[in-house]
Formats: sequence, structure tokens, C-alpha cells
Amino acid sequence: MTQDELKQAVARAARDYVADRLPVGEILGVGTGSTANFFIDEIAAIKDRLGGAVASSEATAQRLAGHGIRVLDLNDIDAMGIYVDGADEIDGSMAMVKGGGGALTREKIVAAVAGTFVCICDASKRVQTMGRFPLPVEVIPMASAYVSRELAKLGGTPKLREGMVTDNGNLILDVHGLAIADPVGLETRINQIVGVVTNGLFAERGADVLLLASAEGVQTFYADAVR
Ligand code: A5P
Repeated sequence: MTQDELKQAVARAARDYVADRLPVGEILGVGTGSTANFFIDEIAAIKDRLGGAVASSEATAQRLAGHGIRVLDLNDIDAMGIYVDGADEIDGSMAMVKGGGGALTREKIVAAVAGTFVCICDASKRVQTMGRFPLPVEVIPMASAYVSRELAKLGGTPKLREGMVTDNGNLILDVHGLAIADPVGLETRINQIVGVVTNGLFAERGADVLLLASAEGVQTFYADAVR
């Protein structure tokens, strides 16, 4: 199977997960990226069950609206049952690296509100130790040089993502060469650097459920089993 076929398969499994577990009329959070795009296309078929969707990026909001799915402002809702999103890497503790698409801050905000974070991935994203995928860090533009120097002190090599301005008007530094042995500690440490908006480690609030697609099918993992 191609990687796109695996993404399609996991998107379908996530649609079924939502149809089974999200009560009719409740709000769904929707992530960003190519796997999330497959998922958006799948939930068009169940849009009448949804009370609406909260998007983690402008691109996702546009795609949802294109399917006639009602897009809600996060500030206008009190609760969200499920958030579905992809990841760039996910480890055995259900911690993730995200932000390859640059939407990490809004993704982290929407995930914070959600009751259940469902991560949808193809098997290439599952790793023992995260860090091979460069860790995205969203920074306030005037702080980018300072934050780069501070990130280098942590052992990584930050590179400014050329041509990228986030939906929030900020820049992205991609940190290469990290071996992330302590995801929660590193997430906290980087977020303490002045000028950092947030970083792409989702460890403090990792995934609750992982739907993982491989040639053998889609497997389901639960965080309760590993935490
Ligand atoms: C977007 O900012 C990211 O967090 C994506 O969710 C992540 O990069 C996964 O994207 P793909 O599904 O395109 O691999």
C-alpha cells in the first residue's frame, strides 16, 4: 500500500470512531495536514451528525467549509468531545512531535479543550525515540535570533523555516538533531524560553487514542494502557 492509501485507511477508521463515540450534535476538533485532510473528506459523509467543527488552522477551516461542515470559533464553545489530528512522530508513551505543517500552536490549543485526542497516523510515524523529525518551535518574529541561540544550548540545531509565516503571524524554527529522551521535560523547558509561543512536543497532553495504519490494517492503541 502507498502512504496515501494508509492515510486514507486511517482517516476512514477515524470517521467510524467519531460516528460511534461522539454523541450526535456535539463538537468535533479537526487537525491539520495531509492525513487530517483525508479525514475531513471522510467526515463529509457524517456532517449531519456533527454540531460543528473547530479547525486548528485556516487551511482546515477552508476545507471543512468546502464540504459544508459548520466551522465554529473555539471561544464560542464550552466543550469538545473529540479532536482528531495527525502527527509527525509518536512514541510509545503517546507523546508526539507535531507542527510539520506549521499549525502547532492552534493544534495544541484545540487539543487542550478536547476530551479525547485521537491521533491518526501511518506506521512510518511510530518511533522509539522522537527527534529525527526536526522539532518545530513557533516564535515571535523579533525573538527568533535569541530563541535560536537558546535552542542551540539545548543541543539542537535550529533552522528558520524559509517562507513560513504561521496563521498567528509568527515564525517557525525547526530544531534538528535532538534525541528526545524526556519529552515532557523538553516541552516544558522550551516553552520557558522568552519569545517561544509554543513548541511541537505534545507530551504533557499527548494522544489518548492512536489509530495506526499499516499494510496489516488499522490498529487501535489506548494511552491508558501505557500511562
Ligand atoms: C500540522 O502542523 C502538523 O502537526 C500535522 O498534523 C502533522 O505534521 C502531520 O501531518 P501529515 O499528516 O501531513 O503527515
